Amino acid sequence: MLEEMGLTPIWRLREDSTVVEPPPAAADAATYHPPSTIHHPPQPATGDRRGEIMRLEWKGLKARVAGCTDCPLHANRNKAVFGVGDENADWLFVGEGPGADEDAQGEPFVGQAGKLLDSMLAAIKLKRGANVYIANVVKCRPPGNRNPESAEALACEPYLHRQIDLIRPKLIVALGKVAAANLLASDASVASMRGKVHDYRGTPLIVTYHPAYLLRTLQDKAKAWADLCFAVRTMEGLHGGEAAVAEKA
Ligand code: URA
Ligand code: SF4
Repeated sequence: MLEEMGLTPIWRLREDSTVVEPPPAAADAATYHPPSTIHHPPQPATGDRRGEIMRLEWKGLKARVAGCTDCPLHANRNKAVFGVGDENADWLFVGEGPGADEDAQGEPFVGQAGKLLDSMLAAIKLKRGANVYIANVVKCRPPGNRNPESAEALACEPYLHRQIDLIRPKLIVALGKVAAANLLASDASVASMRGKVHDYRGTPLIVTYHPAYLLRTLQDKAKAWADLCFAVRTMEGLHGGEAAVAEKA
């Protein structure tokens, strides 16, 4: 497994996990109305868009995302990529947004980065769909794989928030800077955020490098491996009660 990930030698885990304060609740997403040459009547103020999304169950949420036109990213997408996996998973991995392969297939992490993610999961004896859910910050592909803009991420945020509420994962792993920045409302680097237990609305969250970054930056794979081991230990601590307290102390 480790060789598959290019992950030798095995690094020792660090002992310095800390808990940080939860970020303030994100503001309600701005509602985007796509430009149109057709004259629509003025849209009513949709101040309760978040509330409406937060009341949806899986079926309604999936349908809402599949037809969503609430930010500019809808214009170029082929398929919205909702997320995939065990809807009762303990583990939630959150990436940035669909790339070309994901946009074509409608499933997250199916391209090169996805292969590495699958290897990373296998290295900690997990696999896609079994006690694991995989989702992204934005559900539609940013053109040319650019980073999602903050307004786009904000518009899409209620969907991920609702997915997390429905899944109720025990641990969230944020893959890369965009996921971490949006989930933690922080502009800190991945390097400074890894190795700690953060908090997303009451759920423990760990930050590691994005698999696409690891494909370009092989020397950081060992750190990603250390992060995965840290995640496993954190999960074990969560199950272990007292160990969790020690972990967070
Ligand atoms: N990169 C991501 O962040 N998400 C995907 O689904 C694929 C690649
Ligand atoms: Fe809707 Fe999210 Fe797609 Fe934007 S990225 S159109 S908010 S589903």
